[in-house]
Amino acid sequence: MSKVTSTAPGKLMVFGEHAVVYGYPCIVTSINKYITVEVEKTKLESDIFHTPGVPDTSFIRNALNLFREKYNTEDPVSITTQSDLGNYGLGSSAAVTVALVKALAKLYDIRLSKKELFKLSYETILGVQKTASGFDVAASVFGGTILFDGKSKKVKKITSEKLPLLAVYSGKKASTVSMIDRVKRLRDRKPRFVEEIFLEIARIVNEAKQAIENCDWKRVGKLMSQNHELLVRLGVSTKKLDDLVMRLGKAGALGTKLSGAGGGDCVIVIVPKEINNTGFKIIDI
Ligand code: MEV
Repeated sequence: MSKVTSTAPGKLMVFGEHAVVYGYPCIVTSINKYITVEVEKTKLESDIFHTPGVPDTSFIRNALNLFREKYNTEDPVSITTQSDLGNYGLGSSAAVTVALVKALAKLYDIRLSKKELFKLSYETILGVQKTASGFDVAASVFGGTILFDGKSKKVKKITSEKLPLLAVYSGKKASTVSMIDRVKRLRDRKPRFVEEIFLEIARIVNEAKQAIENCDWKRVGKLMSQNHELLVRLGVSTKKLDDLVMRLGKAGALGTKLSGAGGGDCVIVIVPKEINNTGFKIIDI
C-alpha cells in the first residue's frame, strides 16, 4: 500500500483533572480540531519525520517502536503531520499518537478495535510521560463527550446537546509533567487533605454528568466553578488563571475553570450565548 492518512481530535478536560490520575472519574470532550498523520514506506534506510505542529517527537518515536514490536514490522517509514491544535494544551500528544497508530494499522492492513487502539496509544504516552491517566487518549479514540474512569479506563458516552463551551487561552504554556509532580508532592505531604479534595471532585464529576445529560447549563457552570476552587486548593491554578476566571465570570459566564494540568494553558467557560468577549483570546473549538 502506498500513502495512508488518519486523523484524531484534540480534547478539553471538562471536569476531574488530577483526581483522574489517582483513579477517580473525569469528563472530557473531544473538539472540532484535529491532527492528521500521513504515513508511507520509504526506500531510505531510516525513518523520516516531517512533523510541524508537533514539537515533541518522542510520542511519535515511541508509538512507532511499540507498534513494530507488537506487529513485527520493520520497514522504514516517512511520517508527515498536520495539526489544527496549536500549542494550547488541547491534547496534541494524545491526538498525534492515536492518529499515527491508526495510520500504521491501515498501512499494514491490521484491524484494530477501539480498545486495542486505546491500549497501544496509552502505552505510548505512559512510556514517554511515566504518569498519565489516559483520558486524552480516550477522547481522541472515542470522540464526543465521555465519562472516563481513571481506574478501570472504561469509557461511557455522555449523550447531550453540544456543550456551550468556550476555551480561552491564558497566554502561558503549561507543563503537565511538572503539575502532576506538584500534586504528587502535596499528596505525599498531606494525603488526607488531597484525598478529601479528590473525593469532592469525584462527587462533582458524577453530578456534572447528570447535569450535562439534562442540558442544565446553569448547574454545569456552577459545578465548573466549584471544581476550579478545588484545583486552586490543590495548588495548580495561577494568578493569571484565577484572574481570567474572575473576568469571565464578570463578563457573563455561567461557570469557568482551568482545564487540564493547570499552571497555564486554557480556561473553559460555559456561556449562555455570546459572551462579552472583548479582550479574551478565544480559541475556536
Ligand atoms: C492533564 O491535562 C490532566 C491531568 O489529569 C493528567 C492526566 O489525567 O493524565 C493532570
